[in-house]
Amino acid sequence: MSGADGPRRLVILGSTGSIGLSALEVVRRYRDRFEVVALGARANADMLAAQAVEFHAGYAALADRDAARRLRAAVPGVEVLDGPEGLEALAAIEADVVLCAMVGAAGLQPVLRAIDAGNALALANKEPVVMAGRLIMERAARRGVRVLPVDSEHNAIFQCIQGHPKEGVRCIHLTASGGPFYGRPRAALREVTPEQAARHPTWNMGAKISVDSATLMNKGLEIIEAMWLFDMPARKIEVVIHPQSVVHGLVEFNDGHILAHLGVTDMKSPILFALTYPERVASPMDRLNLAALSELSFAAPDFEAFPCLAYARQAAAAGGTAPAILNAANEEAVTAFCAHRIPFLSISDVVGEVFDTCAPGPDRDLESVLAADAAARQCARIAVETISMRV
Ligand SMILES: NC(=O)c1ccc[n+]([C@@H]2O[C@H](COP(=O)([O-])OP(=O)(O)OC[C@H]3O[C@@H](n4cnc5c(N)ncnc54)[C@H](OP(=O)(O)O)[C@@H]3O)[C@@H](O)[C@H]2O)c1
Repeated sequence: MSGADGPRRLVILGSTGSIGLSALEVVRRYRDRFEVVALGARANADMLAAQAVEFHAGYAALADRDAARRLRAAVPGVEVLDGPEGLEALAAIEADVVLCAMVGAAGLQPVLRAIDAGNALALANKEPVVMAGRLIMERAARRGVRVLPVDSEHNAIFQCIQGHPKEGVRCIHLTASGGPFYGRPRAALREVTPEQAARHPTWNMGAKISVDSATLMNKGLEIIEAMWLFDMPARKIEVVIHPQSVVHGLVEFNDGHILAHLGVTDMKSPILFALTYPERVASPMDRLNLAALSELSFAAPDFEAFPCLAYARQAAAAGGTAPAILNAANEEAVTAFCAHRIPFLSISDVVGEVFDTCAPGPDRDLESVLAADAAARQCARIAVETISMRV
């Protein structure tokens, strides 16, 4: 292991996405602290080639095999792997930190492989934790692997909760900007396009998480993510709308004290924290200008206008494979919405229908989780088909 006495060796999965690009920007600013050993993505061969050359990565992988062939031809000095198993192999390379910044369920196997290999995880990819939080956290604990949250809210909670016994925590408050449609009644969201849904007021993110933020499913997924990362029951995790996105998370203790985390709305900040933990590295990012903050407001979420949040709460309370079912239904519905196949409001209809149809079972092993995921996707595709024929 290097780390303390040399540069930290990084594997970045999803390096061509929003989080991946921010992570590489962090690496650019701290060249002497990091060594990029491997980079992976889905199909963006051109960008991955440029990254592999710039950061001298020894290994690269693309899930799409044709794209991997093109990458191989473009960077002959780099060992290029392909397919989902190529990404898994990258996760298992000996490294100090694996940053998982892929989107969706595809990150699950790489996350598990990284843990099995004993690599510390910086986790942006929330869907695997939603699907299989128990398996991931139990496996990480057994293997003694550190799981550091990159998601800004969870990174904030992680910082606030350090050094405090869990028993003293009354609840965790996750803040939500409210997304681009905050304050609008459900009826006003009928004609929303994928382009409008992707226009987040405070964060610049990938397509899927932007749509999830617009439906508030993102906050629902984050409730489940927080349950596992902080070993808290769902009833101890609250959501509060905070449109300015300055307070990223709060921890309330039994004696009424609340610790809040404030920071800039720049994902490079939690990424830097996770990649350099436990150091506190001088940040080149803009500082939060407290004197210029005119307002910090908080409000309760509207569960009626945003039913996805209510479904996520139900899934969190039900436990077992219910969160995996929720996640699969949502992934399918968001893909269909982004392809203009179903309207915005139908995303929650699909999730609700799958939720009513697929009965959850125990999440005792990976096979149970994957079976629940596959059944829910099948059911969601039927629901999408039915809706798309109607509209
Ligand atoms: N963006 C944020 O600010 C933010 C904040 C908190 C948490 N997160 C979480 O971080 C994750 C990434 O979000 P993002 O906004 O960075 O997404 P994004 O911009 O869409 O990027 C996704 C990345 O994953 C890769 N990818 C997609 N499917 C893949 C597959 N099947 N196999 C391998 N790689 C695959 C993409 O490669 P290609 O480019 O080749 O398609 C891309 O590199 C999500 O789980 C999200 O919820 C994001």
